Amino acid sequence: MPNRSTDALFQLIKSLEKSEKRNFKLFVRRNSSSDDLKIIHYPDPRLKKPSAPVKEVTPALRELAAKMLLLMREARGVGLAAPQVGHNVRLFVMNHTGDVKEDRVYVNPELSEAEGSEEGEEGCLSLPGINANVVRDKTIRIRATDLEGKPVDETSSGYLARVWQHEFDHLNGTLITDRMGAVAKMAAKKTLRELEEKYKNERK
Ligand code: NI
Repeated sequence: MPNRSTDALFQLIKSLEKSEKRNFKLFVRRNSSSDDLKIIHYPDPRLKKPSAPVKEVTPALRELAAKMLLLMREARGVGLAAPQVGHNVRLFVMNHTGDVKEDRVYVNPELSEAEGSEEGEEGCLSLPGINANVVRDKTIRIRATDLEGKPVDETSSGYLARVWQHEFDHLNGTLITDRMGAVAKMAAKKTLRELEEKYKNERK
C-alpha cells in the first residue's frame, strides 16, 4: 500500500534528473553540501528539540524530502526524520522494503488507536553502533499529509508500525536511548561516550 506521496516524489526526482544533464547524484551531493544537509548524530541538541508543524508544503519542503530519501538510501536506513538532518519540522521519510517505489513521506504525522505491544530490535542513523530492543505499540494508525498536501490515513502492525513510531519519536525529540531498558543502556554506555567525545572534538 504505497502512499500517494510516492508518485509525487518520483516525479520530483525525475524532473530533477531531467533538469540536470550531469549525474543526478553529483547534483544532489553538490546541493546537499551547499546547504550542509547531512545526518547528524547524538548528542547534537537538534535531535532533542521538539519539531514544529509544517504550515505549508512548499517546493523547498519537497526538495528536502527528496534529499532525505537519498541520504537515507546512501546510509542504508529504513527511515529518516527531518530533525536528523538538522531541520526541526514535522516530516519523516521511510522505505521499509528497499524498493524505490515504496518511498514514503509523512508530513505532520499523528499516531492513534494503539493496540498491543511488542519488543523488537532497533537502530538509528543518528546513533551509529547502537542497537537495542525497544517496546512499541504493535498496531497503530497514522494520519498525515503527503507532499501534495493530500491526507494519508494508514493502519499497520509489526515492523511498519515500529518504523512509524521510531520516526514519530524523532519529531518529539525522543531517541531509542530514551526508550531502552537499563541493561541495554549499560551496554550502550561506551558507544554513547565515544559519540559524545566525537561531537565535542568536531566543535573544537
Ligand atoms: Ni532514528
